Order: sequence, then C-alpha cells, then structure tokens
Amino acid sequence: MESKMKIIGGTQLKGKISAQGAKNAALPVMAAAILLKGKTLKIERVPNLLDVVTMADLLRSLGAEVRFRDHEMEISTPEEISWETPPDLVRKMRASSLVLGPLLARCGKAVMPLPGGCSIGSRPIDLHLKGLTRMGASIELVHGAVHARADGLRGCRIYLDFPSVGATENLMMAAVFAQGETVLENTAREPEIFNLVEALRSMGAFIDADGTGVIRIKGVDDLESASATVIPDRVEAATYILAGAATNGEVTVSEVIPNHIDSLLAKLEEAGASMTVKETEVTIHPSGRLKAVSLKTLPYPGFPTDLQPQVMVALCLAEGTSVVQESVFQSRFLHVSELNKMGAKIDIQSNSAIINGVESLAGADVIATDLRAGAALVLAGLAARDITYIHHLGHIFRGYENMEEKLCAIGADIAILPSEEDSKGDSQALRS
Ligand code: UD1
Repeated sequence: MESKMKIIGGTQLKGKISAQGAKNAALPVMAAAILLKGKTLKIERVPNLLDVVTMADLLRSLGAEVRFRDHEMEISTPEEISWETPPDLVRKMRASSLVLGPLLARCGKAVMPLPGGCSIGSRPIDLHLKGLTRMGASIELVHGAVHARADGLRGCRIYLDFPSVGATENLMMAAVFAQGETVLENTAREPEIFNLVEALRSMGAFIDADGTGVIRIKGVDDLESASATVIPDRVEAATYILAGAATNGEVTVSEVIPNHIDSLLAKLEEAGASMTVKETEVTIHPSGRLKAVSLKTLPYPGFPTDLQPQVMVALCLAEGTSVVQESVFQSRFLHVSELNKMGAKIDIQSNSAIINGVESLAGADVIATDLRAGAALVLAGLAARDITYIHHLGHIFRGYENMEEKLCAIGADIAILPSEEDSKGDSQALRS
C-alpha cells in the first residue's frame, strides 16, 4: 500500500513560496550531458524530484557519473558510453525518450524501449523518429523497443507537424554533431527549449534560435565542459498561485519569471483576481469569488496543458459556467471524475470540460491519476470543507519538491500518512 496525503481543507493560505527549478528544463539539460566525451556538465538549480532521480539513474546506467547535492548536479560523461537503455528506467518516465537523440549523435546507435509516463492519452514519439530518419538514421521497432542506427547524421530541413516539446529537444541534440546545418521548423517555443539552447551553446554548440519557431543548428566535432542553470518552474509556480486563488488567500510566489506564466495571469485577471506582478514575484490577493472564464490549452505561449487540471479547480469554484478545451493531449480529463466526487459539477463533451461553478467543494477519497491531476486534487483538497485523502502520491512527487512542506509553511494542514497508518477513524467521522 502506498502512502496517501491527508488535507484538512478550508484555510485561506497566506505567505510566500519560492519556485523550484523547472523539471521540464532540468531533464533535457541532463540528457544533453550524453553529448560530452570525457567532460563534465555542471547544472545549478536542479529540483530534487523523482523524475530527476530517474534521469540521473538512466545516465548512470549508460556509464556517466552523476553527483547531485543541494540542487547542484555534476554529470561527467566518459569517452565510451553504452547506447542501450534499461527498459525499467525508460518505462518510468516519458522524458526518457530525450536520451535517444544525443545517444544516436554520440554513439551512432541507440536502443530504447518505448517510454512510459503520465496516463494522459496516447503519447507517441513518431515526430522524434521521423526527424531522426530525415537526418539519415535507420530506425526499427523490435519487440516494443526503438533500434536506431546512423553512420553520422546529416543536417537537413525538418518541419514538425506539431510543435512537440520533446521532439524539438531531441532533434536539436541529435543535430549538434550532424554534418552541415539542420533547420528545424514549426518547433516548440516553450521557455524550457531556450534553457536547453543556452546549455548546448555553453557546451560549444552552434544554435540559432530566435523564438520564431525556426531553430538552426550547425554541426560541430566536439563539445566542452560547461555550466548551466535551470530556469524557474513555471508550472509549479502557477500551481501555488492557483492555490491562492482556490483558497481566496494571499500567496506570493518568488523566484519566478512572470512572463512565462502570462497566459495564466491574463485568465486570472479576466476572472477578476487581484494580483501584483513584480520582476521575479507574483502575488495573488484575496479576490472573493472569481468569475467563470473559458480557455483552450495550446503550445506556448498559449495556455499550458500542464496547468489545465489546476486551473479547473479555481473555475469549479467560480461564479458561472466555464469551458476548458484541451487541445494538446487526448484524455487529459482523468481528474474530472475525482473533482466531481468532491462536489464539482463538470461535464465532459469530447475534448471540452463544461464547468458549472459551485460555491464550495467537500473532502473525499480521491486518486491522483497523473502528475498535474494530482496537483489539482491538492488544490481542491485545500479549498474543500472537511478532509480529503489523495492516493497514488507517487505521481505528485515526480514533479513537486516538498509540496506539503511548502504549502504547510503558508497555512495549509497537510500530512503524508505512511502506508500502515489506518485512517478509518477519520473516514468514519466524515461519513457520519
Ligand atoms: C512536454 C512536457 C509535458 C507537457 C508537454 C506539452 C517535458 C519533460 N514534458 O512533454 O509536461 O505536458 O510537453 O506542453 O518537457 N506528439 C505526437 N508525436 C510525437 C510527439 C508528440 O503525436 O512524436 C503529441 C503528443 O501525443 C501530445 C502532443 O504532441 O498530444 C504534445 O506532446 P509534446 O509537446 O511532445 O510533449 P512532451 O515533450 O511529451
């Protein structure tokens, strides 16, 4: 039995939280260390998360030495590394696919089982494979594993049918040693892409990325030891701003880059939230009941799919009907049935959630089906009357460092109950 989170809801949160380094920036920068030969990459502000530990283990399994302490990581990659990735590690996390491009560039071959990750619909890697094939790789799928080979990748023009974050990162890393110039078109423009560009440049790669969705990479022969710093986690920061909104509290999130969360701030403003935005800090003030707003998830700078579950909690409590359209992932509405157990009134129609605002939510036993769904349930539990128990916490630890400590420091009442602890007494109290 896994541990569960117990939240006694109904408290207005008040205080300051500083954002962690971005999980989705740290993972590709770590994968980039594979490109080094006998050199070291130092990375600062690395969040201490399960996914980061999985990536570190994956790099170790290839032969790299990884040291990680106090959010500083040092990855030393030897002259010779393995090109075969262990299935148990790869299946733990979809971002494992980020090692494919650098491995192929570095070793001329790679074997990688198709990755796992959050249960948010089918998440193919066809765009990664199509791009690598255009660069001259031959790719076969054997018993659910990708077997890729290339006798030196060649620069070429690759148009992505969708601005996939992972495909942009993988292809950019694959192109670092390719012969000639690679031009990636219709690339993702998420801030994490540019964090990777900075890290690769500091290692000596030639990359021209001006934010227009076109990235040009000129192949080089070798890279150097370097240092990189991970940008603030915009999704984590936004989750805590939404915790303020959901509890009508006064929450400041510091060490953020506010324009990375512009789409959320605009929607909160439209909903009537009162906020103060400074250079590296955002405060949400008690704003009373928010008004319903509608939104659609899109690639950056559109509204992030990774915030869709959390914003839905604020909209569950808003006055009126909101429509949230999910256009990035299929079946990213697994949190809806759990929120409805807590008294929300949400109907799903195809890829839209129709949310009829209610005045309050009530505690319940709910299941975190994926990382951001889990975060949404925490927000709902904080806003709800009575006690909420959240099961399958492992998903939350993949992306939020010390979430319960950070929230308790600003007034939340959260405890992680070890698996043995029996909470029957509490559940019975709730039922009676
Ligand atoms: C990254 C983020 C994830 C976020 C997502 C979208 C990391 C580690 N994870 O995931 O938190 O939710 O961006 O912002 O950075 N697709 C294909 N074929 C492909 C690749 C993608 O069809 O080859 C589809 C996916 O199924 C999905 C959509 O494109 O529907 C977006 O995926 P993508 O941008 O690749 O997300 P990830 O890189 O997996």
